[in-house]
Amino acid sequence: MRARITVDLDFVLSDLDRRVFGAFVEHLGRCVYGGIFEPGHATADERGFRGDVMELTRELGATIIRYPGGNFMSGYDWEDGVGPVAERPTKLDLAWFSTETNRFGTNEFIDWCKAAGVEPMLGVNLGTRGMDEARQYLEYCNHPGGSHFAELRRSHGYEAPHDVKFWCLGNEMDGPWQIGAKTAAEYGRLAHETAKAMRWIDPTLVLSACGSSHRQMPTYGAWEYEVLDRCFEEVDVVSLHTYFANKADEIDEYFGVIDRMDLFIKEVASICDAVAAKRRSSKRIMLSFDEWNVWYKANTIEHMRKPGWPVAPALLEEVYNMEDALIVGGALITLMNNADRVKCACLAQLVNAIGPIMTETGGPAWRQTIFHPFALAARHGQGRVLQTKIETPTVATKTIQDMPLLLASVTEDPATGRLSIFSLNRSPTETIEVDVDLHGFDARIELVEALELHHANLKATNSKAAPDTVVPLRNDEVQVSGTTLRASLKPLSWNVLVLQQVRTTQPGPGQHAHP
Ligand code: AHR
Repeated sequence: MRARITVDLDFVLSDLDRRVFGAFVEHLGRCVYGGIFEPGHATADERGFRGDVMELTRELGATIIRYPGGNFMSGYDWEDGVGPVAERPTKLDLAWFSTETNRFGTNEFIDWCKAAGVEPMLGVNLGTRGMDEARQYLEYCNHPGGSHFAELRRSHGYEAPHDVKFWCLGNEMDGPWQIGAKTAAEYGRLAHETAKAMRWIDPTLVLSACGSSHRQMPTYGAWEYEVLDRCFEEVDVVSLHTYFANKADEIDEYFGVIDRMDLFIKEVASICDAVAAKRRSSKRIMLSFDEWNVWYKANTIEHMRKPGWPVAPALLEEVYNMEDALIVGGALITLMNNADRVKCACLAQLVNAIGPIMTETGGPAWRQTIFHPFALAARHGQGRVLQTKIETPTVATKTIQDMPLLLASVTEDPATGRLSIFSLNRSPTETIEVDVDLHGFDARIELVEALELHHANLKATNSKAAPDTVVPLRNDEVQVSGTTLRASLKPLSWNVLVLQQVRTTQPGPGQHAHP
C-alpha cells in the first residue's frame, strides 16, 4: 500500500509550544506517595524523591507538570501542605476516598520540579473554596515578600518566589462527581472574578478556565460558550479533557478516538472564536488539553476507591499494552497538528495512576508501553509544525466513513536544522510504503535516526518482570535521496524519522546558519 506526504518549508502551521508535552501529578493513589515521593526507598534522596522515577521523568521529557489535581484540587486546602511537616493535618480526601497525610505539598512539588527540570503548573480550589484562597495561594507562591503570605513562604525556607506562571482555575467544574460542582453561569462568573484578582497580583500569569470534563458531557459546547462568555476578557486558555477507551476491543473503532480528539479540538476552538466574534474581538483563546490518556481498564469503582480511607492505595493502575501505545502516539500527532491552537497538554498522569511510569512501592520502576511514543515525541518534536499534505488510503469503520490509514506530523527546528516525521500506520494488515517530498529545502537531507514502535501482539505489555517487551526498534527500511525519502511503515506501527538538513548554499538574509 502506498502513501505520500508533502511538506514545504514555506508552509508553516505554527510554532510548537513545548508545553504540549506536559504531564500530571495528582494526589491520587500512588502517584505522589510511592510514585515521585517515597522516603526510605533505595533510590530516594534526602528529600524523599525517588531517584529512579526522577530519572525516568527526565527521559520521558515532560516539560510542564500539573498539580495537585484533578478532582483532588476541588477539596484541597493548600495551607495543609506547607510549613513544618509535624504540624500538617491529616484529612479525608473526598475525591478519592483516601486519607491525605499532607507530607508532600506545594514546596516539595516545586523542589521536585526543579530537580526534574520541568515547569510547575498549579491549580486553585474553586470547589470547596474560591477567589480568596486563590489569591492567597498565589501570593504565597509568587509574591517576593513584605506581605503575610509571601512572608509565610519565606518563613518556610523559600526566600525566592516560586514564580509559577500557569494556573488552572479549578478542575472539571461541570462534573457532578466534582466536589463543589457548578453550573456554567456560576463557574464562569467565579472564574472571571478569580482570574481578575490573580492578575492584579501577577499580570504575567497564563490562566486556564475549565472546559467540559469530556466531549460526551450533556452540557458540552453550551458549557464552553457560557463560561467563556463570562470570563473571556480575563482568561488565556480553556481546558479539554479526554480518556480513550477500547471498550469493544476492536482496533479500527479504537483508532477512531484519535479522529474524535481532532474534532474535539476544532469544535472547542470554534466555540472560543464564536465568543470572540460576538465581541468583535481579535483575541484568540488558546487550548490546554490538560488531561488526556488511555483509561478504561482500571476505571471500575473498585479501581477508583478502596474501603477504609487508606493512605495512598493502588488506584487507577492501568496496565498499558501495544495498542494503547499506538493510540497515545496518534494523539501526540493530533496535538502537534493542532499546534496553532493547542498551547499546552498534559498526559494524565505521570506515575502509577494511569501513568507512563510504573513503580513497585519499595521496588523498581519501569516504562509502560505508552512511555515510548511520548518520550520520542517530546525529544524530537521541536521548533515548528509544518503543514502536511497526506495522500493515503482510507478505510470505512463502523463510525468513520473515510478513516485515513496514515497519520503524520512534521516538525522542523530552524535553530538546528532538524526535521522530524511522526507517523502512524493504522492498517491492521498492510505495510505502507510512504514517499515524503520535502519542498523548499535549500539543503541536503541526511537520515539521523529511524525508529518504529511495533509488536506482533497488540495486547503485549511491559511489566516488572519483562520491562522491555514493547520498545522502539530501528527501522532499516528508509532511503533518502536528495529531498525525497521513502520508508516502509509496518502495519499497526508508530514511527519517527529524524532528519538533518545540511546546507548546500550560504544562508540568505533571515535564514538560520544551521550546519
Ligand atoms: O486523572 C484522573 C481524574 O480524571 C482527574 O482527577 C479528573 O480531573 C478526571 O476526571
